[in-house]
Order: sequence, then structure tokens, then C-alpha cells
Amino acid sequence: MGTLRGLWNRFPTALSLFAVVSSLVRANNSPWIQYPDTGFATMTHYDLPLDFIASCGCSTESTHFPTAAMSQMAYGSSSAYGASCGRCFNLTLLNTFLSTPPFFPNVTNSVVVKVTDKCPVSAHWCSAMQGKPNQAGVFLNFDLAWPSSSIPDDFFPSDASLYGYTDFGVWNISYASVPCSSWGGQSNITSFGVAPNLGDSVCCPTDPFTDPNTTCPSFSDLNGISPTSAPAVPSSASSLSYSSYTFLLIYPILLGLYQLSL
Ligand SMILES: *[C@@H]1O[C@H](CO)[C@@H](O)[C@H](O)[C@H]1NC(C)=O
Ligand SMILES: *[C@@H]1O[C@H](CO)[C@@H](O)[C@H](O)[C@H]1NC(C)=O
Ligand SMILES: *[C@@H]1O[C@H](CO)[C@@H](O)[C@H](O)[C@H]1NC(C)=O
Ligand SMILES: *[C@@H]1O[C@H](CO)[C@@H](O)[C@H](O)[C@H]1NC(C)=O
Ligand SMILES: *[C@@H]1O[C@H](CO)[C@@H](O)[C@H](O)[C@H]1NC(C)=O
Repeated sequence: MGTLRGLWNRFPTALSLFAVVSSLVRANNSPWIQYPDTGFATMTHYDLPLDFIASCGCSTESTHFPTAAMSQMAYGSSSAYGASCGRCFNLTLLNTFLSTPPFFPNVTNSVVVKVTDKCPVSAHWCSAMQGKPNQAGVFLNFDLAWPSSSIPDDFFPSDASLYGYTDFGVWNISYASVPCSSWGGQSNITSFGVAPNLGDSVCCPTDPFTDPNTTCPSFSDLNGISPTSAPAVPSSASSLSYSSYTFLLIYPILLGLYQLSL
């Protein structure tokens, strides 16, 4: 009897322990990368046509201001919108690391971007998975839409006389989540929000960082689509990351050169 009561008394504890453990297991089962508000990342760049509607479905006007595609597993969906859509980040260039020697510019260039697109997990620098960083040891890649009418052409510093080229392809950067009030597009209300008449496969909140209630759900989770599915055939810029695909092709060569230099 005493044993039974003891068990019964402990039952609620056991039950809540079970609830805690199962919610932890559930959280760990989420394939999406949860990232801190600040940290290090890599940055590549890609061609996003002006007035193009990218993965999140943000209005065409957003392309007139700095935007970026985020690596798929941090973006939060393998299709259409994910949790990072609409978030704003201050991105600061630190150094290159594939070049010989690494390049540490004598200027510190930053840009505040809004995430409007997904960089597919199949693209080399966007390949980080939960617990498995990319080749630079970081979990986030920002694929900057550049050249852009809103970002100076010399945003990426270079030293052609030393390196013989100006485009390093990938940079080590620091990132900081910032309120979208510091994004260039905030002065023009039409550059916020979703493109009209596109139904419910779009989600582009004004500022999910300062108003987490507006964070987009994961379109692929909602629709039972595999989180790691990636377009096999490039079909639209919403899922394309041109520079990243180029990098996928030339990376083995660069890696070889980099290893030779060590
Ligand atoms: C972005 O980061 C740079 C470098 O730390 C800083 O100088 C700049 O003030 C930041 N901009 C915003 C809007 O936070
Ligand atoms: C990026 O910069 C940070 C801070 O300087 C440094 O600790 C890290 O090693 C750098 N990563 C690469 C890949 O250069
Ligand atoms: C900064 O570096 C660039 C190339 O690395 C060089 O051309 C330029 O003169 C430098 N500027 C200053 C102020 O040192
Ligand atoms: C704001 O958006 C409207 C509509 O797209 C556009 O005509 C106007 O030029 C934009 N203004 C600025 C300052 O970008
Ligand atoms: C977010 O949602 C919660 C729960 O519905 C609510 O209590 C809270 O006030 C909301 N916050 C904002 C900033 O709207």
C-alpha cells in the first residue's frame, strides 16, 4: 500500500518528466538550424534580377534595397517561405579565407539586409545542417543579392595587384540580427510585405525579429515536404543561387590550391 501510494505520488513527477523529455526530443527532431542573434557566418553573392519575387514572396520593391538568401536549414523551409523570411541582419565583411594569403581589408564594410530568399542546401556554402557546419565551420551563409542598385559596386574590397582578381567568391563575416527599422527599405512601406495576388504560398513579415509573433511557419513542414529537398533542376531564381552553383563547380580546384598552400 505504502509502495503504491509512493508510486502514485511520484506519478505526476514522472508524467511531467516524460513531457519535458518528449518535448526535448521533439525539439531535437526539428531539422532546422536555430541560430543565435549574433555570430560568424560566410557570405557569397548571387544575381537576383530587379523586381524579381524570390522564395519568401516579398514584394518586387524589396529588390530595390539590400536583400539576401539564407542557407536552407537556417532559412527554415525547403520550399516557399520559412522562419527567417523578413528578418533583417547587419552583415560585416571580415576576411577571405580561400585566397592565398587570406585578405584582411583595410576598410570595414557592412550592409543591412532583409532575408527574402532561400539558398539551397545543395549549394556548397549553404550546405550546413544541424550539428554539421559548412566548410568554413559556420552554420549560416548569407547569399547577398549583388550587384544591386542599393549596394555600392565596391562593397567587396579587393586588391587586384596582389591577387590578380577582384571577386573572392566567399567571405568570413560577422552578422547581427537588427530591427528592420535600420534596413534601407523601411522608408518605403511598399518594400515591406508580400507581393499581392500570390495566394497563401507567400510570407514576408515586416519585422519578425522585433515582433516574433509574425514569424513565418515553415512551408515545407506545413505541406509535408522533405526539409532537405533541393531543386534538382534550376527552375527559377527563387531557388537558385547562381554564385553558389558556380562555386560548387570551382570549389574543388580552390580547395586543392588552398591545401597546397598550407
Ligand atoms: C553594422 O555593423 C557595423 C560594424 O560593427 C557598425 O559600424 C554599424 O553601426 C552597424 N549598423 C547597424 C545598423 O547596426
Ligand atoms: C572569421 O573571423 C573570426 C573573427 O576574426 C575568426 O575567429 C575566424 O577564424 C574566421 N573564420 C575564417 C574561416 O576565416
Ligand atoms: C587599402 O587597401 C587597398 C588594397 O588592399 C589599397 O589599394 C589602398 O591604398 C589601401 N588604403 C589605405 C588607406 O591604406
Ligand atoms: C517606393 O515604392 C514605389 C512603388 O514601387 C516607387 O515608385 C518609389 O520610387 C519607391 N520610393 C523609393 C524612395 O524607393
Ligand atoms: C504575441 O502573442 C502572444 C500570445 O498570443 C501574446 O500574448 C503577445 O501579446 C503577442 N505579442 C505581440 C508583440 O503581439
